[in-house]
Amino acid sequence: MRDIESLIGNRDEFPILREWNFFNHAGVTAIAKCGADALRAYAAQAESAAYVGAGWYAQLDELRAMTAKLINAHEDEIALVKNTSEGIATVARGVKWNAGDRIVTASVEYPANVYPWMDVARRENVELVMVAEESDTQGRRFVPIDKILQAAEHPRTRMIALSHVEFASGQRLDVARIGKFCRERGVLFCLDAIQTLGIIPVDVVAMDVDYLSADGHKWLLGPEGAGVFYIRRELLESTHPPEIGWNNVVHAQDFGSYNFTFRADAQRYESGTPNVPGFLALHASMQMLMDIGVENISRRIKKLTDQLADGVEAKGYQLISPREGEMWSGSVVFVSPTHDHAAVVAKLRKEHKTEVALREGRIRCSPHIYNTEAQIARFIDVLPGH
Ligand SMILES: Cc1ncc(COP(=O)(O)O)c(C=O)c1O
Repeated sequence: MRDIESLIGNRDEFPILREWNFFNHAGVTAIAKCGADALRAYAAQAESAAYVGAGWYAQLDELRAMTAKLINAHEDEIALVKNTSEGIATVARGVKWNAGDRIVTASVEYPANVYPWMDVARRENVELVMVAEESDTQGRRFVPIDKILQAAEHPRTRMIALSHVEFASGQRLDVARIGKFCRERGVLFCLDAIQTLGIIPVDVVAMDVDYLSADGHKWLLGPEGAGVFYIRRELLESTHPPEIGWNNVVHAQDFGSYNFTFRADAQRYESGTPNVPGFLALHASMQMLMDIGVENISRRIKKLTDQLADGVEAKGYQLISPREGEMWSGSVVFVSPTHDHAAVVAKLRKEHKTEVALREGRIRCSPHIYNTEAQIARFIDVLPGH
C-alpha cells in the first residue's frame, strides 16, 4: 500500500505542480514522475543495448495482469491496445451483425464511441439508436438511464454501448443497472471506461460488462496511445479479430510456420509490435495508483470535486454535472450565464497557469489526487465572478 497523503502537492512525484494548476485529467494528463522514469529507462536501455536483457515483455504481461486485477477480470481477458478507439472498433468490427440488429447509445457520447457504431449501421444495415441528454430542474444534464433501457427493450437490440462517465457533462452512469438489464436479455454491453479507470472502482463481473476499452492518458496518468481492452472470455470465439498481423496467433514467434490459429486468449486482438515505451510508462503509473487503492483515490477525487462544484456555484456559474448519489465523477462541468467560455479558459492558461478544458461549449475542470485544496481554492478565486 502507498499513502495517498504523501502524494498530495508532491512536486517530486508530480513535477507538473511546479508550474501549473493542471485540472484537465479528463482530457490528457500530465504524466507522473514514475511514468517519465519508465520512459527514460526505456530510452537508456534502447539506446545502449536495444532490447537485449531488457525484460520489457515480462512487464507487458504484468500490465495485463494488473489491468485484470483493476477491473476484476482474468488475465486472459485483457489485450493491450493503442487507444480506446481500437478496443471499441474491435467490438464493432468483430461482432457478427445481422441486418435489423439494434445498437443503443446516447447522443452525447465521445465520438470514439459513436463513429464505430455509425459505421456498423451503414455497412451492416443495423439500426443505431441515440438517446438524448436531458436537463433537470436545476440545469444539470444527464443521459436518462430509464430511456436507454426503454430503447433497448426492443427485441432486436444486440448491444448497448456507453461511457462510464460522459465526457461533456461528467455524469457517471449506473453501469451495474445497465449491465444487469443486458445480461438478463442476452444483450451485449460495451463500456468506454476511459473516464473512470484508475479513480473509480470498475468491476466487470459485478457490472456485467462484456467489453471494456480505455486508454491510459487520462486518469491512469499514462502517456498517450497505450490502452487496455477487456473481453469476457465467453465472447472470444464469437468476436473475430478485425485486424490480423503476425502476432494474433498461437505460435507467433515461429515465424515461418504460418500456423494461422488464433490465440485462445484476448491477445488474439493484438496484431503486431506493441507500443512498448507507452505500456512501460502505463505499467508504472497504474502500479502507483493500485498501490494507493482505487477506493482511497475515489474518496479524494470526491472531496476535491465537491470543493470545486460548491465553489463554482458560489461564483454564480451554472453547474452542468449531476453530483447526486453515484452520478459524480472526476469532472466538474459548468457554464457562465454571461462570460465567454473560450476567453475564460484562455485567460486562466495565460495569466494564471491554470489548465481546464472547453468541451461542447462548457468549462470542464478535472483534478487528480495530487492536486491540493489550496490549488482549487485559488482556481475558484481567479475565476471571473458574476
Ligand atoms: C469518453 C471518451 N472516450 C474516448 C476518448 C479518447 O479515445 P482514444 O483513447 O481512442 O483517443 C475520450 C477522450 O477524450 C473520451 O472522453
